[in-house]
Amino acid sequence: METVVSGIRPTGNLHLGNYFGAVKNFVKMQESHNCYFFIADYHSLTTHPTPADLHGNVRNVLVEYLAAGLDPEKSTLYVQSDVPETAELYLLLNMNAYLGELQRVTSFKDKVRQQPDNVNAGLLTYPTLMAADVILHKATKVPVGKDQEQNLEMMRTFARRFNNMYNKEFFPIPSAFNFGEQLVKVPGLDGSGKMGKSEGEGNAIYLGEDPKKLRKKVMRAKTDSGPTEMNQEKPEAINNLFKLMNIVSGEDTFQHFDDLYNNCQIRYGDFKKQLAEDMITFTEPFRERIADLNSNDEYLAKVVKIGAEKARESAVKTIKEAREIVGFRKFY
Ligand code: TRP
Repeated sequence: METVVSGIRPTGNLHLGNYFGAVKNFVKMQESHNCYFFIADYHSLTTHPTPADLHGNVRNVLVEYLAAGLDPEKSTLYVQSDVPETAELYLLLNMNAYLGELQRVTSFKDKVRQQPDNVNAGLLTYPTLMAADVILHKATKVPVGKDQEQNLEMMRTFARRFNNMYNKEFFPIPSAFNFGEQLVKVPGLDGSGKMGKSEGEGNAIYLGEDPKKLRKKVMRAKTDSGPTEMNQEKPEAINNLFKLMNIVSGEDTFQHFDDLYNNCQIRYGDFKKQLAEDMITFTEPFRERIADLNSNDEYLAKVVKIGAEKARESAVKTIKEAREIVGFRKFY
């Protein structure tokens, strides 16, 4: 079974875009791969060095991913900082990571622009920490989106370089896990582009969204004055709402409103009401599980503890071997 590693940044709540874009595939992957999913709390310090509630953010992400279907019996779910071997491998990799190549990484350059007053070394070495996360478990696959391609390339470089420098085929060279066709792009509610929290409040529907708020968001979604010609092409904002309906509603419902649109008889108010109700139905089990988990600290503690133990088992082994390969020997 191939080993897969993926990190989850502890920021924000899961929305339908995250769910269909990645999380649902993580859930499926658990059946066929040896998966390590961790909450990247070390990484979060590169942008938020003094977080107001680091523990709360980590807990929140843990709850939502569990609610979405990550299963601690099938995967290893852990908190990055519970596995300090990560930091040691990061240190070793940093010795062979060069300023020039790190400075050329696009996401680093973006961050320099975004936070000019905090261009810290952690930001520069974000790719080495990411490499450590993955090769710590000798993983071969990394399920990441387009925005992480360069980080993945760096990861491969660092793994290869370690092997070359110490003359041993020690780390497998990880490659991207491509979801291909399975990736569903979820549009946002603001009429253009994809669902995302950075596109503004109201654009995203969260898995744990309160039904009242959900209705409000959907009813406020942008529409137009309606079709004027039979079977006319849908403008983007309308097409996006249909795409959302296609994701959360039954086929009959979708067909019903599609026909109304094509006959120029659609009433957007009814259409959006139906969309909102179907979204509420779709998200209901997530809301329930989130509430359940939130009131079960004991269970969360157990999940995290078992995850840390499993992750450290593999991490300790890798670090022990890596130390020997680099040349550290015990005097005692
Ligand atoms: N950088 C990733 C992101 O922003 C999170 C991450 C950290 C990660 N370490 C990783 C992803 C290792 C895959 C593998 O989403």
